[in-house]
Amino acid sequence: MPRFILGLESSCDETAAAVVEDAVHVRSNVIATQHELHAKYDGVVPEIASRAHIERLVPVIDQALADAGIGFADLDGIAVANRPGLIGSLLVGLSAAKALAWALDKPLIGVDHIHAHLYAGLLEEPGAPLAEQLPALGLVVSGGHSTIARIDAPFEVSVLGRTIDDAIGEAYDKAATLIGLPYPGGPELDRLAGEGDDRAHDLPVSLLGRDSLDFSFSGLKTSFLYLVCGRPERGASVKLSTVQPDLTDQQRADLAASFQRAAVTAVMKKIARARTEHPDLRTLLVGGGVSANSRLRRELLALEGIDVRLPAMEHCLDNAAMIAGLGAVRLAHGERSGFELAAAAR
Ligand code: KG4
Ligand code: ZN
Repeated sequence: MPRFILGLESSCDETAAAVVEDAVHVRSNVIATQHELHAKYDGVVPEIASRAHIERLVPVIDQALADAGIGFADLDGIAVANRPGLIGSLLVGLSAAKALAWALDKPLIGVDHIHAHLYAGLLEEPGAPLAEQLPALGLVVSGGHSTIARIDAPFEVSVLGRTIDDAIGEAYDKAATLIGLPYPGGPELDRLAGEGDDRAHDLPVSLLGRDSLDFSFSGLKTSFLYLVCGRPERGASVKLSTVQPDLTDQQRADLAASFQRAAVTAVMKKIARARTEHPDLRTLLVGGGVSANSRLRRELLALEGIDVRLPAMEHCLDNAAMIAGLGAVRLAHGERSGFELAAAAR
């Protein structure tokens, strides 16, 4: 097992570097967020994100090594998120990882960002050896992804279902914007939901076909829009970004709570469906920004008959510790990436 792995993450709007020891101990976890650069656009602007990664990555790497109390020479490998994500953003981290691996003559390993989110719950509290926790069900719920997967060998991931339209975090952020919360509003909507009545409104929970493990959140988003702003006249359209409804604090809290009930119910129903179809699952690995959600965490932890591994709050959002940790597992299995390793948007 390689000891110290440096992980790099730049797939979206966080520039991150981390050092993980023995695949599970997080020695440092540095994240430079770009939220302030994208907030006024209510979404991530790819060109701005790539430029910010270029400016921030080197100081973030230096900080990660300093926090871990080690130097470049102590590293046993470099792990980098090379897929999926914004292509320009991914290329910044990937180029840095290749340059480091080449200059230091250390092994390089490319890691799938989604797989790394699933690994995040195994950081710091690894429990039994990974192989004994498999087969596992994986759930990634984030601003870019809503995916259900099955993990058999470390770390062989087969996708069972994914969103056919919006990611759950995207729906959260749009709903939050509609009730006047600043982008990205998922965490604030979650907090506000705690003050509201989740039965105030009935919002649709889209389950798609009878056996489908795919998600769909666009219907929920549109229903929420109509609920907040009223249904438009035939032929007219309501633009999400331009509405400013006049709401009392209690109305906003009730809307938040009702949205949260529908969104979390959609996820829990899919988990139940996946467990029925795959009765041999031992562990549930959960990751992604929305795994920080209080209601989702509460409902997941109440599940019986499966060991639920939720990431620590600081490992839910995009971070490089999860990249380094999974990179260490893959390197320990003898995997290596060559310098021809490419970035892939999907
Ligand atoms: O994993 P992440 O950092 O980025 C992607 O890979 O997309 O996830 C960010 C997403 C945002 O949509 C954010 O609003 C959402 O996670 N999020 C939450 C909560 N905390 C973060 N959504 C609901 N409840 C939360 N507590
Ligand atoms: Zn992510």
